[in-house]
Amino acid sequence: MKNIIVAANWKSNKTKREARQWFDEISNIKTPDNLEIIVFPPLTLLDFASNLIREKNLQIKLGAQNVSPFGPGAYTGEINGQQIKEFADYVLIGHSERRINFHESDEMINRKIDQALSLGIIPIVCVSNINQVKVLNRKIQLIAYEPIEAIGTGNSEDPKTVEEFVEIIKEEKENAQVLYGGSVNAGNIKTYINIEQISGVLVGGESLDPLSFLGILKNAV
Ligand code: PGA
Repeated sequence: MKNIIVAANWKSNKTKREARQWFDEISNIKTPDNLEIIVFPPLTLLDFASNLIREKNLQIKLGAQNVSPFGPGAYTGEINGQQIKEFADYVLIGHSERRINFHESDEMINRKIDQALSLGIIPIVCVSNINQVKVLNRKIQLIAYEPIEAIGTGNSEDPKTVEEFVEIIKEEKENAQVLYGGSVNAGNIKTYINIEQISGVLVGGESLDPLSFLGILKNAV
């Protein structure tokens, strides 16, 4: 049985009250040994979520959705890796929503990766084409392949295309594990997990509702 990662990217959603409801609803999950669940709440909820996970004794890891490309210092509005490390083991870097809306360059993405790796935070680097893989300048453990036209549209990528792209990623970054992201739901997750080279999924919209997310977890293993 292969190990599977299911990552939930909440994006810019949820208040404390909503986060509590979500954790309440999923608190009875049984997590099989081969399943790793990682939740990426907004930064404002990292501390809160880490307390809930501890209180409820859940087998869930936490990740941040972003990290500053700089260390501590005079960078108004930024949250640095040391601050993230207090609550999270993972960080999402290079999501297409950040590349597009916040003009994050490959150089900035590499700086963020360096910050994360220097502190022992595991980056999940999101890519939508092979050039974005080629310019990654460090050994990356986890890459999420997220075709832009599949994100938030309900049009998940054809599994055959995903399979081909993962092979190309593996030629570049042999040791990286690859996740698929883009309109994953309880109905289609299996087709992606069944791809031999895929190690899991990154779920956006369908992770917000706890019942939908539970459906995804159930069908993941
Ligand atoms: P989606 O988002 O599941 O809503 O398509 C995935 C992502 O952007 O990580």
